[in-house]
Amino acid sequence: MEERVLVTEPIIPSVIEKLEEHFQVDVGNRGDYNDEESLIEVIPKYDALLPMLSNPVTGEVIAAGDRLKIIANHAVGYNNIDLETARKQGVFVANTPDVLTESCAEFTIGLMLAVARRFFEAQRYLLEGKFEGWEPLGFLGKELNGSRLGIVGMGRIGTAVARRAKALGMDILYHNRSRADRQIEKELEARYIENVQDLIPKSDFISLHCPLTEETEHLIDEESLENMKSDAILINTSRGPVVDEAALAEALHEGTIGGAGIDVFEYEPEVHPRLQTAPHCLLTPHMASASHKTREAIGMLAANAIIDVLEGKDPSEIPNLIQP
Ligand code: DGY
Repeated sequence: MEERVLVTEPIIPSVIEKLEEHFQVDVGNRGDYNDEESLIEVIPKYDALLPMLSNPVTGEVIAAGDRLKIIANHAVGYNNIDLETARKQGVFVANTPDVLTESCAEFTIGLMLAVARRFFEAQRYLLEGKFEGWEPLGFLGKELNGSRLGIVGMGRIGTAVARRAKALGMDILYHNRSRADRQIEKELEARYIENVQDLIPKSDFISLHCPLTEETEHLIDEESLENMKSDAILINTSRGPVVDEAALAEALHEGTIGGAGIDVFEYEPEVHPRLQTAPHCLLTPHMASASHKTREAIGMLAANAIIDVLEGKDPSEIPNLIQP
């Protein structure tokens, strides 16, 4: 019997073609599997699942997967997958590290620049016909050069952001669960801050790159927002629930922080209504990894893990397996 793979929604076609060279592949329509029930219904037919981060691959979904051998997430983050049940059931789980690091880091710097130099407000102003010529006091913003960037989460993406920020003349502070390699600290002239709450008041920009865990949920809450400098800018390209979105919206409306660039949301795809109307805030639809090159690489990495597992390769030789 030919093995069957479910790709939950359309991805870059070359990835599907690659999987089709090996297996029978079904591709869902966009949003078909954003709820647990629809996955539970179909999962018994499949040997492998290639889900999006918007698909809840819960314990019940995995338990219903009688033939399921691997879940290869189309993302580096895997907070949508119940790892514990997968482990108990002997189902492999893969993610897509490394291939999206540069794209996400580049996008993060883009958000910082766009908020700090007010690109979006400026374009709106111009298109509303308000531009009457060069203004000495028009759109004064904040330079990255000479500003201090506080990075929360100095993994691959945090480090790639730090490298770019240093090249732009920023001073780097960082917090991470464990201190980074001294060589990296030296290269980036980055200072480790043991407690994230101590990093917050020292930073002109704060960029979040930590995974979503019980410890990081609402890491940025009302209190930490109060501790930010009044002109500091918060950037979140990690996971939405790391920030208390309602508290962020209030801080922006009250003007107690300088601005925010937000690519991920607490209740994705919902965006808090107060955030939608908040000043100095650029909102983007979870797109930090969205370059053609990177999305193809993400898909290929996930697809290769599926091919390797279903074709019986030694798991220790499959680099992107998280477990078992
Ligand atoms: C990821 O991979 O976790 C990103 O959030 C989406 O590309």
